[in-house]
Amino acid sequence: MIQGISSDSLVYLNGEYLPLGQAKISVLDRGFIFGDGIYEVVPAYKRKPFRLNEHVARLERSLKAIKLETGKTTEDWKRLMTDMVNKAETDDTFVYLQVTRGVARRDHAFPEPPVEPTIFLMSSPFVRPSAELRTNGLRVVSMPDERWYHCDIKSVSLLGNILAKEYALAKGVDDVIQFRNGIMTEASSANIWLVKDGVLMAPQKNNLILEGIRYGFMEQLAAQCAVSFKAKDITEAEVAQADELLFTSATKEVLPILEYNGKPVGKGVAGPVYQKLRAAYDMEVEKL
Ligand code: PDD
Repeated sequence: MIQGISSDSLVYLNGEYLPLGQAKISVLDRGFIFGDGIYEVVPAYKRKPFRLNEHVARLERSLKAIKLETGKTTEDWKRLMTDMVNKAETDDTFVYLQVTRGVARRDHAFPEPPVEPTIFLMSSPFVRPSAELRTNGLRVVSMPDERWYHCDIKSVSLLGNILAKEYALAKGVDDVIQFRNGIMTEASSANIWLVKDGVLMAPQKNNLILEGIRYGFMEQLAAQCAVSFKAKDITEAEVAQADELLFTSATKEVLPILEYNGKPVGKGVAGPVYQKLRAAYDMEVEKL
């Protein structure tokens, strides 16, 4: 028995498809011992992966950043993800992919010669954000960003992120907005956007945030909707005085944040820029 999930669901592990309950890795896997690995979360609608090229490009960037050579090509990654989407139990699904530096004697140094990486994929049903969530939005609180300086790498070492999520839950809200030296970074597992006087803004893409696949996508949607966009350092004061705050991730798509530190954001209802971008988001999904 595995809490919250059927042990019969089909997963991929190191070249084989098998039921989750039978998928086993060594306790010496460097993902388990050191968090020495990379992951991706790819949404698929009606069995069509969404922005697959961008997800694979980010995976390859992250693998390169931690010097993890797998011998897999871009086409191999795409095939693995697409096959998992096709084998999933539901038409709308998420593929989770994880690659670790493999199994070796516990030693901080990379195994020399390198060992086979561990490659794991699973799918989970994707329930798109409900009408209620789209209307009621999310509630968040601010907190200092206490993570490391390579948040641009999609590392499986996520302690900082899960502690941030638990901080929010302990405060009775949905998530956090983190700040490093007074400058906004991101939520516990999503990017944050601010709207002021009709202009959409996001933090600059650098090592302090994960560049969500929805980052480029939102820029594209903003252009389509004639909403101007600016990447800049965003301060705590700007967040507190925002007309709208938005939240994006593969699993939440785009949602409005309607409460920040116990106070309503803007008028406390989903704003016009959110409405436009949300409609454009839905249209792009429909187009698949
Ligand atoms: N998280 N920032 C962080 C820290 C994230 O973990 C994520 C995604 C994002 C948004 O990226 P994208 O638009 O590609 O989903 C930003 C995934 C969903 C997760 O950890 O499950």
